[in-house]
Amino acid sequence: VHWDGPVIEVYSPVCIPGPDGLVRKFVGSYPHTTPKESMEALDAAVAAYNDGQGEWPTMSVEGRIKCMQKFVYLMVQQRDLIIKLLMWEIGKTLADSTKEFDRTVDYINDTIDALKDLDRESSRFKQAEGTIAQIRRAPLGVVLSMGPFNYPLNEIFTTLIPALIMGNTILFKLPKHGILLHYPLLNAFKEAFPKGTVNTLYGRGAEIITPIMESGKVNVLAFIGSSKVANGLKKLHPKVNRLRAILSLDAKNAAIVTKNADLDVAVSECLLGSLSFNGQRCTALKLIFVQKEVADEFVTRLSKAVSALKGGLPWEDGVKVTPLPEPGKPGYLKECIEDAIEHGAKIMNEGGGYNQESFVFPAVMYPVNDSMKLYHEEQFGPVIPVVPFETIDEPIEYQINASHGMQVSIFSQDPIEVSKLIDPFVNLVSRVNINCQAQRGPDVFPFTGRKDSAEGTLSVYDALRSFSIRSLVATKATEANKQ
Ligand code: G3H
Repeated sequence: VHWDGPVIEVYSPVCIPGPDGLVRKFVGSYPHTTPKESMEALDAAVAAYNDGQGEWPTMSVEGRIKCMQKFVYLMVQQRDLIIKLLMWEIGKTLADSTKEFDRTVDYINDTIDALKDLDRESSRFKQAEGTIAQIRRAPLGVVLSMGPFNYPLNEIFTTLIPALIMGNTILFKLPKHGILLHYPLLNAFKEAFPKGTVNTLYGRGAEIITPIMESGKVNVLAFIGSSKVANGLKKLHPKVNRLRAILSLDAKNAAIVTKNADLDVAVSECLLGSLSFNGQRCTALKLIFVQKEVADEFVTRLSKAVSALKGGLPWEDGVKVTPLPEPGKPGYLKECIEDAIEHGAKIMNEGGGYNQESFVFPAVMYPVNDSMKLYHEEQFGPVIPVVPFETIDEPIEYQINASHGMQVSIFSQDPIEVSKLIDPFVNLVSRVNINCQAQRGPDVFPFTGRKDSAEGTLSVYDALRSFSIRSLVATKATEANKQ
């Protein structure tokens, strides 16, 4: 990218040899938004919304759908480049990068279809107690959309796209990593939507987002990241009661493997759930409870499966373990492993915990207990803590005391045991998985959480509702208009 103003230099997690060892490879530069430009972007979004009277919020549903179809057409032209950048910028494998792109395109197309259904449903007249009403789905105003590095395209778009298509105007701040891949889309936004409708920012949150929130002009905060940052952002708004928040936040999802589990299924699903994209998913399994009777056998099988994983570069065949984009992550994981060892756990697999510059080979840690960091902190990386338990009350107790409540995976072949576990967990988390890993998709399913894990609900269906209000046009029923 050639740019005259300030730029941020983007380095890949993929390393090359440097004079003093491995160094992250330079990939490119991206324009760095100045505080002044961020306020100009806010003004542009406010002006384009124009108190609901702007071209975009007053455009018909058909008109907005046409603009979105044009955008998705232009986006698909950039498929290969965006997939390549996903691999270089965040180290996601070719298979997963391709999936992220294609899933996002499907998400946009499904959102278009869902809006058609919603519009049909809303435009039906309803009659009650002498009043006839037409319900209109109306936008909320200016939406600030911010997402994490692990799905730099898909997760931002799961809030940006529904917010946009409902007639809101958008400010979107790119994540810390996975920014160059948005560059090819800037023109697509410009060509497909009216001026000021979508405004992109990149920079340090404290410099560019703080003044935006303090202005009080943001109507909706759509944020995916940590609850600490989300709460900090909300507090900056001068009238927080006027701010709608759609948030997807902390999660340390547990797996529970009982003595009645099919261990082959439990091992393969826990492997996927803990280590897909190196464990850097909010839905990843981050603590595995295993009943004592089968714990040693489970750990032996899991460790063998982990040792067999191939590490390497994102585009290489069969590679499952790739470099990590966050510069501080290898050091943090090393600390977690050392803390667990100090408190009595061991690395159970061959090569586990190998740590060099941006690369960490996954480690199975056993036996983990509540004296260890790994029991409490969301490691968001390739370390699998395994906790032996005696009675099923122990993992239930863990979830009751946890500050989060997103998902749980239960592994058991005993239907009575499974049905006894479903009820307590349905009331403690927002998704209970039986004999399978935790995950967000399919995207038509609701995606939310309890406690510090979420506010509001996302999914193709729910997000359209989250980013709009049901307005009524109510008329007194007369003999004439009843017809
Ligand atoms: O990081 C959180 C993502 O929403 C996880 O999505 O379960 O589809 O990988 P996923």
